[in-house]
Amino acid sequence: MPKLPRPGPLSRPAPPGERTNGANGANGATPVEIAKETGADVVGWVDERTGGGSFLTGLLFRKVPKGTNWFYTLGSATLFAFTFQALTGVFLAMYYTPSPTQAYGSITHLTNDVWLGEFVRGMHKWGASVMIICIFLHMGRTFFFGAYKYPRELNWVIGVVLLILTMTMSFTGYLLPFDQRSYWATIVGVNINGTGPIAGPFLSDFLRGGAEFGSTTLSRFYAIHMLLIPGAIIGLIGAHLYLVTRLGTTAPPWLKAESGDGIREERV
Ligand code: HEM
Repeated sequence: MPKLPRPGPLSRPAPPGERTNGANGANGATPVEIAKETGADVVGWVDERTGGGSFLTGLLFRKVPKGTNWFYTLGSATLFAFTFQALTGVFLAMYYTPSPTQAYGSITHLTNDVWLGEFVRGMHKWGASVMIICIFLHMGRTFFFGAYKYPRELNWVIGVVLLILTMTMSFTGYLLPFDQRSYWATIVGVNINGTGPIAGPFLSDFLRGGAEFGSTTLSRFYAIHMLLIPGAIIGLIGAHLYLVTRLGTTAPPWLKAESGDGIREERV
């Protein structure tokens, strides 16, 4: 495997007014040189105070095993889908009212009257399916490539929690339009939860926010959907990616583990 270029350590930014000399400009630098230097100065300034640059360098310039292919992009595709859901969700939240009497009306208003409202709502709705498809394909890739084995078991477990949280996200989001379909489908879903052993009845009580399905249920679903779960997902994605950077990715199973060739030795 060819050696990947690694940038040297970031240098301390020059004090203001002491830039390197270029071809022209007030201090002899071209606008492009000034732009490049300013970028490096900003990165250097942040890196000196956080050390975050080394994590980014490690993430972007890490070695990848031989045979890395398109299947390895499915995790990033899931990340992209999640980011997109978060962005479109912020715009939907600007118009949505989580009350049984106003939820449906606020969504109808968003769809019919707000500029690009229907488009953003559609992106959020279809984006949810895209995320579910991506996450399952990504899980399938890691499973069939044996990436759940030592030393990546913890990352697999974090992945399983991410999967459960993503599905809970879909479940809680489904109720929010508060139309006939979402209302009855969620009642069925909550009742199914209630059939689980021991924890089931407690879980369905918690989801309903009491014995009856009503306004508490809706605001509870909304809070879980837009605060609790996205927050947990963001934290877990951070841990997931940290482990990917630390451990690297698994070589495809059809490649034999070799040493001294840029490919990591794997214990299988
Ligand atoms: C929000 C959901 C998720 C995101 C954003 C995410 C993101 C990523 C990314 C970017 C990578 C590195 C590149 C790649 O292999 O695709 C990765 C690796 C990995 N992911 Fe995920 N992932 C998610 C869910 C899951 C799930 C549900 C599982 C399994 C249950 C899982 C298990 C793993 C494992 C074991 C690796 C290491 C792969 C290797 O060593 O080859 N992830 N993830």
